[in-house]
Amino acid sequence: MANADFLNEINKRRTFAIISHPDAGKTTITEKVLLFGNALQKAGTVKGKKSGQHAKSDWMDMEKERGISVSTSVMQFPYGDKLVNLLDTPGHEDFSEDTYRTLTAVDSCLMVIDAAKGVEDRTRKLMEVTRLRDTPIVTFMNKLDRDIRDPLELLDEVEAELNIMCAPITWPIGCGKLFKGVYHLANDETYLYQTGLGHTIQDVRIIKGIDNPELDDAVTSDLAAQLREELELVQGASNPFDQEMFMAGELTPVFFGTALGNFGVDHMLDGLTQWAPKPQSRATEGREVTAEEEKFSGFVFKIQANMDPKHRDRIAFCRIVSGKYKKGMKMRHTRTGKDVRVSDALTFLAGDRSLLEEAYAGDIIGLHNHGSIRIGDTFSSGEDFRFTGIPNFAPELFKRIRLKDPLKMKQLQKGLIQLAEEGAVQVFRPLTNNDLIVGAVGVLQFDVVVARLKAEYNVDALYESVGVSTARWVYGSEKDVDDFRRKTQSYLALDGADNLAYIAPTMVNLSLAQERYPDITFAATREQ
Ligand code: G4P
Repeated sequence: MANADFLNEINKRRTFAIISHPDAGKTTITEKVLLFGNALQKAGTVKGKKSGQHAKSDWMDMEKERGISVSTSVMQFPYGDKLVNLLDTPGHEDFSEDTYRTLTAVDSCLMVIDAAKGVEDRTRKLMEVTRLRDTPIVTFMNKLDRDIRDPLELLDEVEAELNIMCAPITWPIGCGKLFKGVYHLANDETYLYQTGLGHTIQDVRIIKGIDNPELDDAVTSDLAAQLREELELVQGASNPFDQEMFMAGELTPVFFGTALGNFGVDHMLDGLTQWAPKPQSRATEGREVTAEEEKFSGFVFKIQANMDPKHRDRIAFCRIVSGKYKKGMKMRHTRTGKDVRVSDALTFLAGDRSLLEEAYAGDIIGLHNHGSIRIGDTFSSGEDFRFTGIPNFAPELFKRIRLKDPLKMKQLQKGLIQLAEEGAVQVFRPLTNNDLIVGAVGVLQFDVVVARLKAEYNVDALYESVGVSTARWVYGSEKDVDDFRRKTQSYLALDGADNLAYIAPTMVNLSLAQERYPDITFAATREQ
């Protein structure tokens, strides 16, 4: 039987990621969340694309130059009686593969929406990904200090476009220059907003009761009347919060506020830590593994090189699924069957890292990787299973990579294979020539690869166009695949992990191949 302390450690963990469209305010919210978690002394000191300072979660030079977040980082902090793990995801759409895989490592998501704009493209795509596992979603409508769209209309749009019911928990009073605060529907309390205090944790004035005349004085009687009117509509038209529907990903609690003004973020955090699930079970090929099992297990969802130039190493990010990591413990790397003793796993507080004594289900630990760990790998306490459901996506953009100095072929190959293992890019080596073809989901990945090849492997490389427009992983019976291989050799390549892929010059060519070889599966995603 698991003891009470062990169960308590697991039950108090909340592991989530933020999904949003670029510029909706994810970085700003992360900063405020860390402020509440006492992980930062003062918000506003960490980021400012213009001031030259950067959020702690931005690591690489390229991120700084472009003002986008390339890497995924992990932040752990206490909030109330809970312990929160916030997984940062790259915001730019070019890094979607990393983002998708990060979403396999969380138990819930915070969806941040720019309330002036409503539901945007990238949010739509990310919501589709969370649907694969019915991840519970908490919603934050941001930028209430600007002129926003009608809040009721915003909820309608979320419901219609994202196919999830909305349960407003707070309701805004005015917006833009007239933003006065929010009314908490369940607590029957109004929290008043003050401008200019965004970098601090504010003492918020609370007015109890919707009919309290103090409210009219505080927010003007016009806005108070409008609020009361809107609330009648809201209560008639929207859904009450329902824990079960939330857990099934069918309903999202909605909070309003301004991340920049640090207002409403704490209401959202209160809701998230109270309602979002504790560490959830994960499927393996054979059985479900629950968080409460005492034996350690976990899977790698991300590999990252050179997070800290001083360390020059590669770190595998491992989500603990069950049990507990203890410094010096033995783990089985189930793909290779090797047992390894791990005494130097890392925990992350944004860019800072420190050695870890113990960690529990729900936590993310960083394992030093000397080349043997791949994305999707499972670590266990000896049992031979593999967690499933960590996807690779077929790239949509291709380029041939060429060396400026032909003598560096070995370094180039090594660099590319390592970057492919990390999931930074995909590499295809045609069966019938010596080309190296780089495949990406987004165009920015190409620049990242050349920059990193130079910085980390001392290789100068450049791109040429190549006649490939799509790739599919190829599966079938041994006989069918052998036959297929003989007949279509010039369209076949091996990816970074030696899986066979069909690289099609045109979509028409792909459709024809699919018609001609019905026994072959052409897969657009590959599970690691
Ligand atoms: P992202 O990570 O989702 O891309 O968004 P980020 O937090 O970087 O925010 C994008 C822009 O929106 C930033 O302004 C940020 O200051 C602003 N912002 C975030 N939350 C709020 C809010 O509640 N109200 C208002 N008015 N603005 C908000 P920027 O000018 O692009 O960058 P910066 O130079 O201010 O950092």
